[in-house]
Amino acid sequence: MNETVRLFTEDGKRLDGRSFDQMRKVRMEVGVLDKCDGSAYIELGKTKIFAAVYGPKEAHPRHLAQPHRAILNCRYHMATFSVSDRKPAGMTRREIELTKVIKEGLETLIFLEEFPRSAIDVFIEIIQADAGTRTAGITAASLALADAGIPMMDLCAGIAVGKVQGKLVLDPSEEEDKYGEADMPIAIAPRINSIVLLQLNGRLTIDEFKEALSLARRGIESLYELQRKALKNKFAGIEEPEVE
Ligand code: CDP
Repeated sequence: MNETVRLFTEDGKRLDGRSFDQMRKVRMEVGVLDKCDGSAYIELGKTKIFAAVYGPKEAHPRHLAQPHRAILNCRYHMATFSVSDRKPAGMTRREIELTKVIKEGLETLIFLEEFPRSAIDVFIEIIQADAGTRTAGITAASLALADAGIPMMDLCAGIAVGKVQGKLVLDPSEEEDKYGEADMPIAIAPRINSIVLLQLNGRLTIDEFKEALSLARRGIESLYELQRKALKNKFAGIEEPEVE
């Protein structure tokens, strides 16, 4: 625990004025890019992310094609200018790890078997990083997949819970993440009640873990509502096909 850095005000509030169970301001928009099949944009505080989807399309190189399902290609990437210390242009170990966990999470939701020999590409571009990029990234990716019309069991949304000087906080800020004792990013598909991503950096007791999970669930419920609204905003006005 880092006692030297002050992360709460004298009267026990978070430095940015939020309560312990409050997320930063969230903005979501669907269909923000023209040149891909599906796209989304998300802002979580100062974190800004685009997600873009291509496909389903023919898998390349062909030897990677699977006879009974589509393959999912995924890339989580931070723009060089997204962090204060100019990130190297290539993929860092961290980006390779986040690509892996996000891909594995999304794979559990997409009906890949509906598109044999095909590929679906998901790109997550972090334009500005200020904590919470993997969870906001997977939230945006699931919206972009829905925008592309890819059949999925459910959308998923993610948020982190941090432990900061002994207290659990929803959606840790960069400072809280950096100096806190634990950080637990989690993404859930709420309708099917499935956890699609769960990582834990640091330690929590079992009771803290349970409390963190319920804190995250509440945050995810509100993100899910915003996702549905963002999709409705794009598709409102498009008439439903008539059923014979
Ligand atoms: O972004 P997320 O919270 O999912 O992942 P993290 O590895 O816990 O990183 C927390 C934050 O540290 C990022 O969101 C960035 O704001 C910052 N960071 C950075 O400044 N430079 C990096 N190379 C990596 C992360």
